[in-house]
Amino acid sequence: MQVSRSLFDEVMVPNYAPSAVIPVKGIGSRVWDQNGREFIDFAGGIAVNCLGHCHPALVSALKDQADKLWHLSNVMTNEPALILAQKLVNATFAEKVYFANSGAEANEAALKLARRWAKNEFGEHKTQIIAFKQGFHGRTFFTVTVGGQPAYSDGFGPKPADIVHAEYNNLASLEALISDTTCAVMLEPLQGEGGIITPTPEFIQGVAALCKKHNALMIFDEVQSGVGRTGHLYAYMGLGVVPDILTTAKALGGGFPIGAMLTTTAIAKHLVVGTHGSTYGGNPLACAVGIAAFDTVNTPEVLNGVKQREQLFRDGLHAINAKYDVFSEIRGQGLLIGAALNERYQGKARDFMLAAADEGLMMLVAGYSVIRMTPSLIIPEADIAEGFKRLDKAIAKLAQA
Ligand SMILES: Cc1ncc(COP(=O)(O)O)c(C=O)c1O
Repeated sequence: MQVSRSLFDEVMVPNYAPSAVIPVKGIGSRVWDQNGREFIDFAGGIAVNCLGHCHPALVSALKDQADKLWHLSNVMTNEPALILAQKLVNATFAEKVYFANSGAEANEAALKLARRWAKNEFGEHKTQIIAFKQGFHGRTFFTVTVGGQPAYSDGFGPKPADIVHAEYNNLASLEALISDTTCAVMLEPLQGEGGIITPTPEFIQGVAALCKKHNALMIFDEVQSGVGRTGHLYAYMGLGVVPDILTTAKALGGGFPIGAMLTTTAIAKHLVVGTHGSTYGGNPLACAVGIAAFDTVNTPEVLNGVKQREQLFRDGLHAINAKYDVFSEIRGQGLLIGAALNERYQGKARDFMLAAADEGLMMLVAGYSVIRMTPSLIIPEADIAEGFKRLDKAIAKLAQA
């Protein structure tokens, strides 16, 4: 069957507006479309393809597991799920793991657990959840309401209650909201969708101290920042604080859908049998790929390589800015990089993304005025150089226009 982009408009729900290009093949950080046109990939499937496309370790883990066992449900556990959980426990603060299929589901579990923990430990009154403006936590109704962009949660009827938003990097605004009725504070330790906003150390330390003071759980949403993205296995490891609950997804499966919620035994014990679940959570195929991704990423070679590559990306963006004067700031950490457009180009991030695609470079936006790059953590230097050549051409055209 021959398919083209127009079929999307005929048979798909119109909640996305995908590009005209339909990719059919990817190797490493290069992708080819139906017509054989090649792209350099600085998008990484939105921080998912941490090892690029079709990494041999992931392909072989998936193929091996495909010949063994695909699915059981949670009526029985399985070896890949237990092994991946053990690895996550060994490498982090966590003592317990819950597997889900996506970031939103991992966050949904975290929020439900926080509410249940607070009810059991302190009583019915402790239900308030504080999150941050511009934060993003997924699209289920609970997680999107916790997210800090009301436009995403408006228009679907009554929202889950007792959720409020403070300003990111503004401790006073959190202090004004938090109290002993707060059950949890949820935040990204590096805001992604909201524009690549790095927290100050004082802010993060302050959030931790306020949570402690008011017996509230600190939930880190590391769906985008986790699994090596910042050059740490998880971003909290570079911040000098330890969350009570951490959620991880995206790069956890390197392109295969999986999410997880990590926490301590004392907190986890409140999700007793029957309180929460998912048919596919802990699926053997997903966990087998997760093990391979985790083992490949969690090495000094890959994590240190992220920091080296970050420098190449920063250098590339600074060089472009020196030539065309388009950015007001280059920010982020590791390979979660944002370039904020200056006054002249406000609201034009999508134009930059489309112009880059025209030149054969895939990249992303974060809001209307920030371009975002979340490439493979092992993107070859030659691909970075080629990608910047293409970006230069794209911006030369935009800057002339
Ligand atoms: C920080 C963060 N949390 C949660 C999500 C939602 O994850 P998913 O789309 O897998 O549900 C995202 C997705 O962009 C994210 O960036």
